[in-house]
Formats: sequence, C-alpha cells, structure tokens
Amino acid sequence: MKRQLPDVKELAPLLQFGLPRLDRVAARLDSAADIWDLRRIAKRVTPTAPFDYVDGGALDEYTLRKNRQVFADVELLPRILHGVDAPNTSTTIAGQHTALPFGIAPTGYTRMMHSEGETGGVRAATKAGIPFSLSTMGTRSIEEVAQAAPGSTRWFQLYLWKDRERSLDLLQRAQASGYETLLVTVDTPITGQRLRDHRNGLSIPPKLTLKTILDASYRPGWWFNFLTTEPPKYASLSNTSQSLAEMTRTMFDPTLDLDDLKWIREQWKGSLFVKGVLTADDASRARSIGADGLVVSNHGGRQLDRAPDSLTALAEVRAEVGEDMELVLDSGIMSGTDVVAALCAGADFVLIGRAYLYGLMAGGQRGVEKAIDLIRAEIRTSMGLMGSRTVSDLGPHLARGLPTVPGLPADIAGKRLTPGAGA
Ligand code: GLV
Repeated sequence: MKRQLPDVKELAPLLQFGLPRLDRVAARLDSAADIWDLRRIAKRVTPTAPFDYVDGGALDEYTLRKNRQVFADVELLPRILHGVDAPNTSTTIAGQHTALPFGIAPTGYTRMMHSEGETGGVRAATKAGIPFSLSTMGTRSIEEVAQAAPGSTRWFQLYLWKDRERSLDLLQRAQASGYETLLVTVDTPITGQRLRDHRNGLSIPPKLTLKTILDASYRPGWWFNFLTTEPPKYASLSNTSQSLAEMTRTMFDPTLDLDDLKWIREQWKGSLFVKGVLTADDASRARSIGADGLVVSNHGGRQLDRAPDSLTALAEVRAEVGEDMELVLDSGIMSGTDVVAALCAGADFVLIGRAYLYGLMAGGQRGVEKAIDLIRAEIRTSMGLMGSRTVSDLGPHLARGLPTVPGLPADIAGKRLTPGAGA
C-alpha cells in the first residue's frame, strides 16, 4: 500500500472541534439518541429515590419487564415502493385532533422528578400538539396547568374516592379550566408494593437524611432546584389540612365499586375513559356504565405484579369491545416503534409515562421536548419504511408476533380487519 503525508488543506474540513457548550443541559440533551439515553442522563442527575420511584415497578417487576418483552417480540413489516413522502402522524382521540398518536400520561409527584414538573410537561406537549394528562396527585394544580399552557389539550386523571364532595370539586374545576377528557383510574384500590421505594426509604417529600445528603452531593443541580423552589404538594388538593402522607393513605380506597364509577359518569359531561383495564370482563363492566373509551394499562407494572402485559391485554380487550370503542394503551412504551406496534395491535392512541419523566429528569421542559422529538422521529421513520401514509394505515397486516387471545385468530384480536387506505 502506498502511503502519503496528510494534506492539511484536505483535513481542515474534517476537523470539527467545537467550543465546549456552556449550556450543559442542552449539551447533554443533544447527546441523547433515544429514550434510554435520556434515562441514563436522568439517573445521573436525579437522586436515587425519585429516580427509582419512576424507574421501578411492583415486587419482582415481572410485569414491568414483560411489558417490554412483548414489544420486543413484535415484528413490523417493511413494504417497498409505496411512494410515501412524509407520513401523516396526526389522528383524533376522544374527539380531539392530535399531531401525534401519543400523549403524556398522568404522573404523580412530578415536581419531585424535576422542579419544572407538570408546567414543563404541559408546555412541551402543547408545542408538539399532543394531549397532556394531569394527575390528581399532580404537584401543580388544575388551574396552574391550564394557565401554564393556554392552548393545550388537557386531560384530567381522577382517582375514584368515596369522598364524593371532593371528587365533585375536582371535576367541576377541571371542567371550568377546559379539561375535556377525564381518565378515571380504577386499578388502585390499594397501592402496589414498590420494593425499591422501601429500600431507598423514599418519603414524600424527600427528607434530608445522611443518605440523601450523600446522594445529593453527586446531584447538586437537582437539590439546588429542589431547595430553591416551592416544595412539592398535591397542588389540586391544597384546600385541606391533611398531610401529604395522610392524603396518600386515603386516596386509595379498597371499598370502591362499580356504583362509584357510575356516579362519576353521571357527573362528567365530557369524554370519560376508564384507566387500568386488562381483561375482557373488566372491559365489559367499564363499558356498561357508559365509558367512552378505555385505557388498557397495568399502571406501568407498578400495581399487581404478574398482571398481564399491556399489549396482550389490548388484544383481549379489543376482541371484547369490538372496533367502535376507543382504546388507549399505556405501560411499556419507550420508542416510536413501540407506538407503531401498539397501533398495529389495535390501539387508537398511546400514553407515555416513564419515557416522558426520563426526559423531564434529564432536562426539564427541554428534556420532555427531546423525548417527544425522539419518539416522533422514530414513528415517522417506521411509517416511512412500512409504506404507511397515515396512522389509520397501521394494522395487524403490518406486524407479526402480536399477542393473540386464546381461541381467537390474530386478525380478530387486532382491530382493523380490513387494511386502511394506502395499504
Ligand atoms: C401513582 O399513580 C404511582 O404509580 O405511583
């Protein structure tokens, strides 16, 4: 092989040493190529207890892992020469237009993850044109979230309570503040056992113990933000004298039954989705009280460990309710290909919880924007490679290895028996 000396003139354009970025948050977000990278950053900059609160599941975390495994087992089918220029990722859910087929799931204690909390989340969602769901356990109030992003598509999540007066107060405030869709969470008669929280001695709000102070020394940014902003509280429930711990205890109520759900249905005039349905039986019960849609969810593997994974449950629930009822899937979504797999399996829409919180922890609002950008790009690329022009093109004909319901052929479990336009 003949060698030569490098020519400086030819090398010059290849040398791209930039100045170190002063904006450290922007620099670390730029380096993230997928949600797992955001998770790595989140873990580095967030104290162990709040990070694990988000990252962990119940008991042995079987369901948490299985949620991921089923998605990994789905194959998406590429289609060549379908002439798709720019896939259209918009769709409608609960009667509302959305720019992307996913929205942000309700999460509690969000300002414990990052001081920008729900405000960062709703602003990022609004920029992207997707719904943002506020939790009853949110750390910004119903009104604060509405004011933070006036043009947002706002969903409100309610825990069923025996205390009807308080529930009604929340519903009326949500309605008055322009929340159009209600998610009623029904899978929390009691709290799941989260072993990581126990081992970390998680307290809400976090206490300054020797362990947390040591942990803090590696995460000065988080602590600076935490100590110089208003402490997290259940912002929508602040008109009560109960402590945070007392309130958490009374929030979950094992004596609730279908009549309580029926009562909520009578109070709420907007769209109502029942969240936490995993079986045909429960889907049928939720439908019987007049739910407009269901959220097929195992609460991110945080409630009953060994509960069915979300994608398998979706097949069973879809087979039960047929094509007409809107189904939202959450639990296990970490990428745009997961979103596409869920849509192929018969979901109308998807919610992201952890993926959003990893972004939030990694960089506040900008981190959430980054998480949404990453998932959007992955959806677009997958749709392009699958020759799908629109979200309604996606169906079971474009996937293999989708979970099936025992006794039912896969195409019956999947929603779209006939491929949409462009297939
Ligand atoms: C609350 O909904 C939680 O999963 O911790």
